[in-house]
Amino acid sequence: MPGIRGPSDYSQEPSRDPTLLLSYFEPFNAEPPRSALVSSYVTPVHLFYKRNHGPIPIIDHIDNYYVSVTGLIDNPTKLFIKDIMSLPKYNVTATLQCAGNRRTAMSKVRNVRGVGWDVSAIGNAVWGGAKLADVLELLGIPKLTSSTGLGGRHVEFVSVDRCKEENGGPYKASIPLNQATNPEADVLLAYEMNGEILNRDHGYPLRLVVPGVIGARSVKWLDSINVLAGECQGFFMQKDYKMFPPSVNWDNIDWSSRRPQMDFPVQSAICSLEDVQMVKPGKVSIKGYAVSGGGRGIERVDISMDGGKSWVEASRTQKPGKDYISEHNSSDKWAWVLFEATIDVSQSTTEVIAKAVDSAANVQPENVESVWNLRGVLNTSWHRVLLRLGHSNL
Ligand code: MTE
Repeated sequence: MPGIRGPSDYSQEPSRDPTLLLSYFEPFNAEPPRSALVSSYVTPVHLFYKRNHGPIPIIDHIDNYYVSVTGLIDNPTKLFIKDIMSLPKYNVTATLQCAGNRRTAMSKVRNVRGVGWDVSAIGNAVWGGAKLADVLELLGIPKLTSSTGLGGRHVEFVSVDRCKEENGGPYKASIPLNQATNPEADVLLAYEMNGEILNRDHGYPLRLVVPGVIGARSVKWLDSINVLAGECQGFFMQKDYKMFPPSVNWDNIDWSSRRPQMDFPVQSAICSLEDVQMVKPGKVSIKGYAVSGGGRGIERVDISMDGGKSWVEASRTQKPGKDYISEHNSSDKWAWVLFEATIDVSQSTTEVIAKAVDSAANVQPENVESVWNLRGVLNTSWHRVLLRLGHSNL
């Protein structure tokens, strides 16, 4: 491998923040406590969730590192970091969310397979790098292309990590060529996160960031980019990260019957309160995040204390001190909004519910049962926390 390698064991993992909550030990998967998510619009790198399918790759010689570009293009080539850094640099604020975020709540309905995430397999970062559309143009594929002369319609990204699901082979995924060559889609080959060089956990030296799309497509530790006629045939595109109806089980599943999930649906979660949380009677502040896929803005976040019979609207912000306007060019279209509302709690138990509405008027579903699926992905049901009157610091 050119300057980068995927180890076969976990002896050289990076150090991590001790406040992260672990889902598994190997591979390393972790999310921050939910309260940490709402303390800042941009999630600090050390608190950003980490989702890995194998040991973290190691860079031996950064100067030797390059990405091979091959497949259905006229000029297969090698891209060195200096080639990517010589292109215009963009900073894109984008929320990355694992498709399995909020899986634990889904597994309470019926057992599901996957990492047991609470509500924090999500984070918002400023990703710095070159636009993939510029990189492909450098290689002779014009902007807004849906097919190369040789018939390429998809772009595959291959890593070097060794994943057991791929029988020891690397993680890989693809996106359509028309998304890859669209500068407005803001797909990045990122080398920075929040103004710092990417760290090993998050893809050093180079990762893909596909805004508005489930995190699984944002391949870390890039080794090669291949232009293909069809979608990537890797495990994580074809045998995972697909949305099945509640009737499908492990005996009747037909993986080929569904397309790989790309955009994520509208989502929100309350982060300032645990489920269950003890509070004193009186005013309680409700804070959380709301986000939608495909670049859709957040039109509204509603809060209910009576099971959804009546609702109050929460305030929404992105950058501190600036009004958030959905779909406005002053807003970060790929990023979450933070919401806040104050409620009055007087009953011994109160269930607080949050639901978001995006700019296409898509609404979170009421019940987790209606979106239950055997892999536990895309739980975007109304988010609920139970409050009990009692002693608390709030
Ligand atoms: N890329 C590689 N090479 N290996 C991986 O295991 N995990 C994917 C994606 N890219 C993964 C990967 C998944 S499922 C998610 S949700 C995001 O990376 C998580 O990115 P993060 O760890 O930087 O938060």
